[in-house]
Amino acid sequence: MNVVDVIAAKRDGKELSELEIRQLVLNYDAGRVPDYQMAAFLMAAYLQGLSLGETIALTRAMVDSGTTLDLSKIAGIKVDKHSSGGVGDKTTLVLVPMLAACGLKVPKMSGRGLGFTGGTLDKLESIPGFTTALNADRFIQQVQHIGAAIAGQTDDLVPADKKIYALRDVTATVDSIPLIAASIMSKKIACSSDIILIDVKVGSGAFMKDLDQARNLSRMLLAVGQSFNRQIVVVITDMNQPLGRAVGNSLEVVEAIDTLKGCGPSDLRELCVQLCGFVLNLVEYSRSDEECAARASAVLDSGDALEVFREIIVAQGGNSRVIEDTSLLPLAQIKEEVASLESGFVEAINCAAIGKASAVLGAGRERKEDRIDPAVGVVVRKKLGDPVERGEVLAEIHANDGERASAARKLIADAYCLGPQQRPGPSLIYEVIR
Ligand code: URA
Repeated sequence: MNVVDVIAAKRDGKELSELEIRQLVLNYDAGRVPDYQMAAFLMAAYLQGLSLGETIALTRAMVDSGTTLDLSKIAGIKVDKHSSGGVGDKTTLVLVPMLAACGLKVPKMSGRGLGFTGGTLDKLESIPGFTTALNADRFIQQVQHIGAAIAGQTDDLVPADKKIYALRDVTATVDSIPLIAASIMSKKIACSSDIILIDVKVGSGAFMKDLDQARNLSRMLLAVGQSFNRQIVVVITDMNQPLGRAVGNSLEVVEAIDTLKGCGPSDLRELCVQLCGFVLNLVEYSRSDEECAARASAVLDSGDALEVFREIIVAQGGNSRVIEDTSLLPLAQIKEEVASLESGFVEAINCAAIGKASAVLGAGRERKEDRIDPAVGVVVRKKLGDPVERGEVLAEIHANDGERASAARKLIADAYCLGPQQRPGPSLIYEVIR
């Protein structure tokens, strides 16, 4: 294969063969294709797009660049879940125990936060003692015994995606639908579950800013997943405001625990119930969405999902007393309020700016190697459609550094847009594609 010819073909809008894509990816992963050629290819793919066939070939090549998880020792139906990334999205912390409490097996590999979006591993690691570094044997044994495990992805899984993603990050080629679809699906396919739930976030705090983009990505994800014979459901959900109220690692764990206890924010509970229901519907076709959602609600109301969460914490070395006493989680020293300078109704929230405020406080990273502060973050008190009086609190800042708190304050104040009329808040779920 001549790499320059492949780049030129893509630059000119031609369709590449499966072999061309495979060789490019595997040679890049092996260090035989340099970064500058892969960067040129990525930009050509970004500008010209990739067909479904090319996207499937890219996904397959990335999967084959590493090993895949062998889940054959786990009896039962294995379910995986992925979110395209959002602000205050602690769904995994609630949904994984719910799915396991419904009798499904959930071997969940998660990532860390980058930029304004949070990551499940960082959230869980705010629980004292909790480890997300499980080797494959321990991971599989835990799923066999308690139904679920949440761990970091091992280095030998889709190494080509890691290298390509890092290159996309610095070459302005992240927000390409086929590149995102191949990146997400390669990780999900390598994790070998039977059922894959993908939550595609859309709105001011998501990669996908509008519904058309989100639909295109969703259809691509579905088609790629089906080409690997997986059962897949893609749900397009709102990210025009933080999910729940808490943004920041230990703050989000508290909110997830509250939700598992039945006293969390209603949007988080509702989303988890619906998502769990959609998965159950794939398993038990004869049941309606309503029946499946009722079953999902029941594992929250009975406390069964909370018990699975406790078992996960214990199995992964964490202090499960945080469930009864959330003050055992890291707490920030400074708590400040951001008050509104005007009265009205919340018309818009720049959700990415809230995520950035949390990152500025230390809850997120700009670079992969940055350390995070588990205690800090933002709690939004006013959400879309809420009435606000001048002087009322829009959001709380949890900080460990006064200067960072001031920077976050400005971001939060600017993120809120008030108007004279009350408009209904956005739908939680826009579409279900299955
Ligand atoms: N999430 C991923 O895993 N990959 C992307 O390319 C974008 C979001």
